[in-house]
Amino acid sequence: MPEYRIAAIPGDGIGAEVVAAGLEVLAALAARAPELTFKIESFPWGSDYYRAHGRMMAEDGLARLKDFDAIYFGAVGDPEVPDHVTLWGLRLAICQGFDLYANLRPARILPGVTSPLAGVGAGDLDWVIVRENSEGEYAGAGGRVHQGLAEEVAVETAIFTRHGVARIMRFAFDLARTRPARHLTCVTKSNAQRHGMVMWDQIFAEVARDYPDIATDKVLVDAMTTRMVRDPSSLDVVVATNLHADILSDLAAALSGGLGLAPTANLNPERAFPSMFEPIHGAGFDIAGQGIANPVGAFWSAVLMLEHLGEAEAAATLLGAIERALASGRASTPDLGGSATTAQVTEAVCAALEGKNL
Ligand code: IPM
Ligand code: MG
Repeated sequence: MPEYRIAAIPGDGIGAEVVAAGLEVLAALAARAPELTFKIESFPWGSDYYRAHGRMMAEDGLARLKDFDAIYFGAVGDPEVPDHVTLWGLRLAICQGFDLYANLRPARILPGVTSPLAGVGAGDLDWVIVRENSEGEYAGAGGRVHQGLAEEVAVETAIFTRHGVARIMRFAFDLARTRPARHLTCVTKSNAQRHGMVMWDQIFAEVARDYPDIATDKVLVDAMTTRMVRDPSSLDVVVATNLHADILSDLAAALSGGLGLAPTANLNPERAFPSMFEPIHGAGFDIAGQGIANPVGAFWSAVLMLEHLGEAEAAATLLGAIERALASGRASTPDLGGSATTAQVTEAVCAALEGKNL
């Protein structure tokens, strides 16, 4: 009887609201599948913890998390604490400390959701962006000297390693193999960036030789924005660097209906450490405390968590319930043009899980 130990880190702003909603939905799912149980432990880390303790997470935080089966994360960010402090102190500390190098960002137009692209419906946009999540432009390498003086210099170095690039390419090819279209697009900027990006392209071509059954293409990141807007059905799985995928995944979320819906999985595919699942929307302090945050991104992230745990059936059940709730019109929060609250969306998904008519 699988019992999964989940570490919940609600974090800041609407992160806390959507994680609470996600845990409710997981409890409703477990209630109808007696063989499935979740043991949740919540950690109060984030910006309030920082104000009280001078750090974003406990000093032994990683040691305390490492034996969980998965981490369910809300968001970090605070108007009073610099973003680089909140980010490096918690979210990136976990991603880097646990080598969560593969970041998965699915984008799809869910039922009842309208894409801002005219004439583009559910079948026309079904992507998974694979984001390199451990190095590249987010490596944190660099420094500042002569701070505040006219001579001030700042260096921000992107780092690409053969090991890091090869493993994300293999991960993306393996993923492409599980999808009907069997197509992988490599995003690059090797025309302007002639070191790391040229190696990136080369390793993509090398790894591609081991996957003759996968169709491939290569697109410059600027041209990619145009292609996503003008020809969405020409894309399937996309692999991109940390920064490129960060930007493209926001565009993907917007094109598929909104940032409030978009989920993400930060994976350690070797399972040496727990993987982390979170909505991509962030702390949203402009709407925090109002009870109107869209919890669908957090719910869909729970689906990715279930898939990673090997609970494919439970994952499909939850995704089906999210789709039914959205299709019914009862789960449309203000960001989607509706007036549903977080609690009402949660209720609708729980009702769908219980097989009720919506
Ligand atoms: C994301 C977010 C983060 C990122 C921010 C909060 C630093 O935008 O997960 O896409 O850039 O990685
Ligand atoms: Mg982002």
